[in-house]
Order: sequence, then C-alpha cells, then structure tokens
Amino acid sequence: MGNVLIKGGTVVNADYQQRADVLCAGGKIVAVGDAAEWDIPAGTETLDAGGLYVMPGGIDPHTHMNFPFMGTTTVDDFYSGTSAALAGGTTTIIDFVIPNPQQPLMEAYHQWRGWAEKAASDYSFHVAITWWDESVRRDMGTLVREEGVNSFKHFMAYKNAIMCDDETLMNSFRRCLELGAMPTVHAENGEMVYLLQQEMLKQGITGPEAHPLSRPPEVEGEAANRAITVASIMGVPIYVVHVSCRESAEAIARARNRGQRVYGEVLAGHLVIDDSVYRHPDFTVAAAHVMSPPFRDKSHQSALWHGLQSGQLHTTATDHCTFCASQKAMGSDSFTKIPNGCGGVEERMAVIWDAGVNSGRLTPSEFVAITSANTARLFNLYPRKGCVAPGADADLVLWDPAGSKTLSAATHHSRNDFNVFEGRTVTGVPVFTLSQGVVVWADGELRAREGAGRYIKRPAFGPDFSAAAAWERQRAPQAVAR
Ligand code: URP
Ligand code: ZN
Ligand code: ZN
Ligand code: ZN
Repeated sequence: MGNVLIKGGTVVNADYQQRADVLCAGGKIVAVGDAAEWDIPAGTETLDAGGLYVMPGGIDPHTHMNFPFMGTTTVDDFYSGTSAALAGGTTTIIDFVIPNPQQPLMEAYHQWRGWAEKAASDYSFHVAITWWDESVRRDMGTLVREEGVNSFKHFMAYKNAIMCDDETLMNSFRRCLELGAMPTVHAENGEMVYLLQQEMLKQGITGPEAHPLSRPPEVEGEAANRAITVASIMGVPIYVVHVSCRESAEAIARARNRGQRVYGEVLAGHLVIDDSVYRHPDFTVAAAHVMSPPFRDKSHQSALWHGLQSGQLHTTATDHCTFCASQKAMGSDSFTKIPNGCGGVEERMAVIWDAGVNSGRLTPSEFVAITSANTARLFNLYPRKGCVAPGADADLVLWDPAGSKTLSAATHHSRNDFNVFEGRTVTGVPVFTLSQGVVVWADGELRAREGAGRYIKRPAFGPDFSAAAAWERQRAPQAVAR
C-alpha cells in the first residue's frame, strides 16, 4: 500500500469544512492539514485536488449483491456490485444476509460471507430475522458477540416467503435490546399487499401498472407505525429502511417528536423517480422499475427531502438489487412474479449531489452526513468510516462539483442491462475514489480489484445504546427546510 498525498482540496466532513491537504499511508489517513509542515516520504503519489471537495467515501447501508430472490439471483455479485460502488464514490456497503425460513442463521451467514469474498470494496452485513425459535435467539447472540453484526433486518412484507409476523418482531426486538443491536424494518403490511395483489389479478390487471396499486403508501405507513409501536413497547431504537412516502416519514417524525429514537433511510431513486414509470407502454421499461416499496406520486418526494433537510430522516441508500430484462420477464403474465429490485449503487452520490446540493436543499456537509457519516454513526462504524480525520480508513472521494455526466446503462459498471436513472445528466461527479488508501477510480478509469474488500465487523452498542444516544446529543445542526 503506497502513500498518497491529496493536495489543495477542500475537506468536507459532516460537521466542518476546511482547506486542507490529506496524507494517507498504510490504508489509513495519517494527517489532515498543511503538507508544507510534513515530511512526505519518498515515492508518495500526489493527487491534485484543486477545485475538488475531499469527502469520506460513501457508505451505502442497503444493498443486495448476489441475492437469491423470487426464483432467481441478482445479476450483480459482490465484485461487480462493489466495483460499480467504487466508480460512484461509495467505498463501503452494508449488505443483507437473508436466511430462508427455517434455515439456521449461522449457515446463511457463512453462505453470504463466502459470496462476499470477491468484493472490491469494504463491506459489512445486517442479518434478517425471517423466522423464530430458540436457535435464532441464540445465533443472534453469536452474530453480535463474535461476528460483528450489530443490526437485524425484519421484512414486514413478502408473505409466504421472508415476512415476519408481529410475534417474531416482538421476540427479535427484545433480543436486539438485550444485545445492543439495532432492529431495522422493511415497512409494508404484507397481508394487505397480498390481498390487494389478488384483487388486481381478479380484476384482470396483471401488468406492472398494478404493482404500485397493490402497495399504496397507506400500507407502508401502517407498517412503519406498527414497527415503531413495537419498538416503543420494547424500549429499543429502530431504523426504518427505504422510507418512500409521506405516511411513513410522518410516522417517524411523530415518534421522534415524542422522544422516541427512530431513524429513517431514503433511497436515491425515491427522491427523483415517480410512479409514472409503471405506466410506460413498454413492459421491459415498466418492469425494470418494479421494486418495493414502489416509486411514488411526485408529491411524496418533497416529504423525503424535507425529512433529510430537517434531520427527521438520516441516511440515504440504494437498495441496489439488480435483475435484468430476461429475469424481469418472469413476471410477464403476472406482476406478482416480477423480481423486485432496481440498481443505483454507482449513481446514488451523484444523483443526491445534483438534486440535493445543486438545488440548495443540502450543504456539502449535510451531503456528507446523509451519504456517509450518519450511517457510520448509526451502525457503529464511526470514526473508522464516515469522516476525514487522522486514524480513519483512507476511504475517500475527491468530488468535482462542476463536472457533469449523463447516467446510462451503456456506461455504468453494474452488470444490469437497465439503469433507472437513464439519460439523467448530473453535475457533481467523483473524480478519484480511494479505498484503503489505494486509488481505485481515477478520472473515468476503474481499477477495482476482486477480493480487495474486507469484511468490517461492527461492534454492538451495548445494552444502553450509548453510541446511538451520543450521536443524538452531538448531531450537527441541520439546515432549516426550504
Ligand atoms: O424491491 C426490493 N426492494 N427488493 C429487494 C428486497 C427489499 O425489499 O429490500
Ligand atoms: Zn425492502
Ligand atoms: Zn432491500
Ligand atoms: Zn425510467
């Protein structure tokens, strides 16, 4: 691992900005300040960061690489998916281990660890609780104490598959509290979705246009409220993944205003894409957008932006879960069989910069907070990840706020044949990405190395969730909603 000196840029952290040089050695940041005052080792590579922002690499807290789901497996594995991430300035992903119902947790965990060995960027895992018995309870303890898993996922949707009922939620949330682990939920009422799907099919509405009709915002709002209520009863914090609509954003805000520790994640896609995509006359295009929760009516987008601006919502992710046209065609006779999922791990940072910072909704520091630092804090990766400071991993993105590019499946690094951001021109792009102090993306050239990524253990918070609580107290002031 050579040394790298990043000269003349503006360092942006979640809580401050400064003109500063950054020296990386041994995969770590060793100094931030004025390079004129340092002894620079011979052979150090210098990157000119004049006019660039030097930011912590993005952390995407929600991806599914190599995911066997709905009768098929995502086209992106851990190598192609993390390569795409690096090309977009994201240097860490938190993916999901998702056991089949009745599958031992540890067996699923080791399966995913094996698949992830080819990752090019650092990665970590949430583990899903898809069923319950004494062995699940025991294995949650092993995962927290020995394997560095400090968050557990609960799907409230996908009936007859990975959905968990309220009893499992109660059992698992109680266990999370004991272990100092963060419970997270995919909030959609799976029973209601199932009934509405049957209703659509009975009416002969079988195409992708029925997908959002079977999963209206109320279905998400109900589940978010229910999960927040369970968390309140158990006295455990809760993190709601992919908040897509006003109903669940408001459920989170209401609970927070009562003093409950509730956190919300927003997907880049939900911020800028609306539900008109499902009415596209071409099945391939409409089906390519089938994901859950679905894209919403435009009016929901401002609720998501306001949540991020005001600090009521905290992180941004992609739910990168890529299925190509022939896989999506598995649902050509029924929308219920279209594998759910869309890409975005490469585009998230640029889409959010363009729509968030360029519009004046977010400052660069707030951008760092919602793309990196907040996730690092909530999932106990901070300050190893999520900040530019001596001692942190040298995972960095050098950002050109004036550079532009047009997003397209023709040029992206995912293996998917579709890009939900196709044709969108964004201003604000990553020029260099460093992972463990190594330049892996340089001005359009990808130098991702298969297997270079490391599994990152995330210690538990402890029974009082002191790390999360400390973050609440120290949170940087947020911009007022515009
Ligand atoms: O449609 C989606 N989001 N697919 C991935 C699984 C999930 O719900 O997160
Ligand atoms: Zn989900
Ligand atoms: Zn997901
Ligand atoms: Zn589209």
